[in-house]
Amino acid sequence: MISPLSIQRVQQAADILDVVQDYVFLKKKGTNYWACCPFHSEKTPSFSVSPAKGIFKCFGCGKGGDAITFIREIEGVNYVEAIRMLARKYNIELEEDEFSPQALEEHSQREKLYIVLSYAKNFFQYQLQTPEGKTVGIGYLKERGFKDEIIQKFELGYAPNSWDTLKNDAQEKGYSLEILQKAGLITTNEQGHQYDCFRGRVIFPIHNLSGRPIAFGARTLKKDEKPKYINSPETEVYKKSEVLYGIFQAKNAIRQQNNCYLVEGYTDVISMHQAGVENVVASSGTSLTEGQIQLIKRFTNNITILYDGDTAGIKASLRGIDMFLSQDLNVSVVLFPDGEDPDSFIQKRGAEAFQKFLLDNKQDFIQFKAQLLLRNANSPQEKAFAIRSLIESVVQIPNVIKRSVFQKEIAKIFKESEEIIVRETNRLLLQQIEAKEKRTQITQLLRDKKSQKTHESATLLEDTPSPTYEHEAVPSEQFPEFIDFRFHCSDEPQDERQAQEYENLRILVLYGYVEFEGQKLYNYLFQECNNLCFTNDYYASIYNTYAYEVSLGNDVRPENLIHHPDERFAQFVVSQLSEKHTISPHWEKQGIVVPKKDEKIDVLSYRNILKRKFAELKVSLQKILEMMKNAKTPEEEYQLLELYEFFNTSKRQIAQELGIVIG
Ligand code: UTP
Ligand code: MN
Repeated sequence: MISPLSIQRVQQAADILDVVQDYVFLKKKGTNYWACCPFHSEKTPSFSVSPAKGIFKCFGCGKGGDAITFIREIEGVNYVEAIRMLARKYNIELEEDEFSPQALEEHSQREKLYIVLSYAKNFFQYQLQTPEGKTVGIGYLKERGFKDEIIQKFELGYAPNSWDTLKNDAQEKGYSLEILQKAGLITTNEQGHQYDCFRGRVIFPIHNLSGRPIAFGARTLKKDEKPKYINSPETEVYKKSEVLYGIFQAKNAIRQQNNCYLVEGYTDVISMHQAGVENVVASSGTSLTEGQIQLIKRFTNNITILYDGDTAGIKASLRGIDMFLSQDLNVSVVLFPDGEDPDSFIQKRGAEAFQKFLLDNKQDFIQFKAQLLLRNANSPQEKAFAIRSLIESVVQIPNVIKRSVFQKEIAKIFKESEEIIVRETNRLLLQQIEAKEKRTQITQLLRDKKSQKTHESATLLEDTPSPTYEHEAVPSEQFPEFIDFRFHCSDEPQDERQAQEYENLRILVLYGYVEFEGQKLYNYLFQECNNLCFTNDYYASIYNTYAYEVSLGNDVRPENLIHHPDERFAQFVVSQLSEKHTISPHWEKQGIVVPKKDEKIDVLSYRNILKRKFAELKVSLQKILEMMKNAKTPEEEYQLLELYEFFNTSKRQIAQELGIVIG
């Protein structure tokens, strides 16, 4: 906590004119100062600063406030951070109370890291002026088309091809080896020898929101050297999942354009700035996190994903889309020609062609996904999957009105009635809610167990009441990981029905791609599975992932599926492959006979489907019997009896077909 007195001091010291002028070029007119607003796009100035009143005000977008508000808005920081930034500017020492000594220590530890990282950034920048840096470093950057101005703007640098230049220089300047190592600048080998992490590479500093360097990406200069980039490790000031490359240089443009472009690489960000498109950040090759999305949301609700048109790029954008939607962002996509990224496109075809390409090729996520899915959808089943997959994205959107707009769009694209789309959406929404409820139930169960235990131990310790547990709810968001895992991932079938579901999936992933009489086996299985349900979430997810792969037109031979990015899915396929010729004990237990070499796959599939139906019918019949016991009126009882007869006949027919004798 910063003491009120300190806050007051900052408020008094922060002169509005002085603060705003750090960011905006102001012109005096009368008693006030004027500029084009930094918070929205405009050509004639409507942003004013009144030194007399100590406030700023934009008559265009309506934003206004004191110096602290200005810092909060322009830096995208919270109140306390704004106070700290201003305190730094005016050299005011903040009194902070209610800080444990440990928190203070941590604070200064962070500060130490900032300082050493800032030193390192300067060091790398300076290296570009040495003879080695000039020829090798600048040579490389120039070859990539980066101009001096942009090299400056992104504070690019060069790490000399040596084991200890940075280490020695830093030590001379008084930085300890310990802090250098903590900052990820030097490392220790097995013999205990410490040396520089980045050697003979160009350096891309990664900045936080207020422009302080917090990490580095170092690119090799050699054509095929791996890894291409060496990145700083996570530290107290660098949490990868909360950082986006380029956010500092982009934030004002993002706010003004009310849109943020998302690219994959450092060089894409830099080239785009040089091409005049400054509202761009990079996910740095990893998949996007919620923290990063929140960061973008501080500046805009509109995101445009720019991804490479190769399959990896497409997959990454598909994954990104659903995440953005669930955070209530509006998502568009621009797909680049196969093998091109924004950087290579700009270097080849120039800034103007690039900007035109962006405008001409921007699609909303429905158009993008539909086009992608329809590319490979021929059969009615495949079309159904395409629709389902789109609806799965739509379900992520929290806002009902927005959802309905997209439902209309889907209906139009697929020439379906809107009613069908709405019904399917509702069904999926319901499923989501149910899944959530199940989780809550387990949480509840656990909580009960926990409080039970506490009560037991409390009775042992006489007079020691244990009031704490009773109120200690486990928030569903912090659901313990192991339970989630057990809940979804129990791949051991729990009963006969699940055993057949498992077998069904085994056949699907191993043989789905095989053709029988011109038809892929998966088409048959999909058709049948449409009317059945998986009683185990983990199985359902395997099935959906497989179906999704098919709908994308991907190669679904098991050799290929084992490389799937969804680890649990890949793992499932791997274990099926390794169990191909063995009989798993749980199958035996459940009466599943696996032919030695799975010779007659078609027969096997057919029988498996029958068995699944048989098992489902058994459960349904059981349920009907129970309902009959509780029937309130003779009519109700009669109706149930009729239903029972109907199901029982089906069951008998299936049994006959399977050669099962039922008593
Ligand atoms: P790319 O391989 O697309 O690199 O990785 P790039 O940014 O286009 O770089 P150039 O054009 O070949 O120089 C995209 C991003 O993934 C991360 C980096 O952030 C990179 O910018 N990455 C990639 C790594 O962190 N390590 C790697 O080895 C490769
Ligand atoms: Mn590139």
